[in-house]
Amino acid sequence: MKIGNLDFHEALCLAPMAGVSDIGFRQLACEEGADASWSEMLSARAMLHNPKKTEFMTLTSEAEKFKVGQIFGHEPVIMAKAVNNPLLSHYDVIDINMGCPAPKIVKNGEGSALMKDLPLAGEIIRACVRASSRPVSVKFRLGYDKDISREFGRMCEDAGASFITLHARTTEQGYSGSADLDAIARLKASVNIPVIGNGDVVDMESYNRMKSTGVDGVMIGRGAQGKPWIFRILKGGEKPKDVYAVIEKHVNILRQHYSEEFLVLYLRKHFLWYTCDIPYASETRLKIATSPSIDESLKILKDILK
Ligand SMILES: Cc1cc2nc3c(=O)[nH]c(=O)nc-3n(C[C@H](O)[C@H](O)[C@H](O)COP(=O)(O)O)c2cc1C
Repeated sequence: MKIGNLDFHEALCLAPMAGVSDIGFRQLACEEGADASWSEMLSARAMLHNPKKTEFMTLTSEAEKFKVGQIFGHEPVIMAKAVNNPLLSHYDVIDINMGCPAPKIVKNGEGSALMKDLPLAGEIIRACVRASSRPVSVKFRLGYDKDISREFGRMCEDAGASFITLHARTTEQGYSGSADLDAIARLKASVNIPVIGNGDVVDMESYNRMKSTGVDGVMIGRGAQGKPWIFRILKGGEKPKDVYAVIEKHVNILRQHYSEEFLVLYLRKHFLWYTCDIPYASETRLKIATSPSIDESLKILKDILK
């Protein structure tokens, strides 16, 4: 099934990850085979009242062929206004976050708190669908404290969502335990819109397990951290020979948009992910974690990777 220019047959998607899915990371993932990429979650309210704060999160790259902008909020009117905010005009799809478990989001009745209030969740989806000339999708979890994903998925479909993504854990689980693949298969069997399966895909084995649920697409989050080439590998390709060149490209893309002062702290986590599989590198990684400059970190990375 096609939505816009995305063929949902085995689509590989880069997950939204707040504080991680920057423009450089998304560009690399798409160049390395991701078919669709999600923005970090964007506050509908902040977009309305303080657009400058959101602007840098809505930067996208030409390499992103199917771009999904994800919004969160709890007020149908504000959410519907966000859909047509000029900051989101270049996205192919507007996705609604109904899965975030972070306490500061949940306490405002947003993210996965909406899984406890199906009428309000439905109202938000309908308001966004009515306001939008583009497809609207929803990303959610199994439920807040128990699995209601089939009921929730059917509600999303009835409210006009074009496709849905399930991270198969409850809010209360956070990231503990494993994603419930049987629940994903049950959801897939009970709706008529495409379903993207999400949770714990990190290699070919876990990818094949996720595909066996019958999903139309697979979304990868943590499995792509420090490995934007995971999409290429899952499509039968190989890890890039020159990992340092990938890191340098990531840095160069970000340097076009962000200050050195911001990046020196921001990039540390990415550098640590890029090096997490290198054996006996704890001392070097500590140096990276405390390095006062990006150029110094790059020099350390070059030495260790080349
Ligand atoms: C650091 C981080 C930030 C995240 N931010 C978002 C977000 O902004 N929106 C969202 O829907 N999910 C967010 N997630 C959840 C992921 O999109 C994904 O559903 C989850 O990590 C499970 O997939 P995985 O096992 O492939 O990582 C985030 C996850 C992580 C680890």
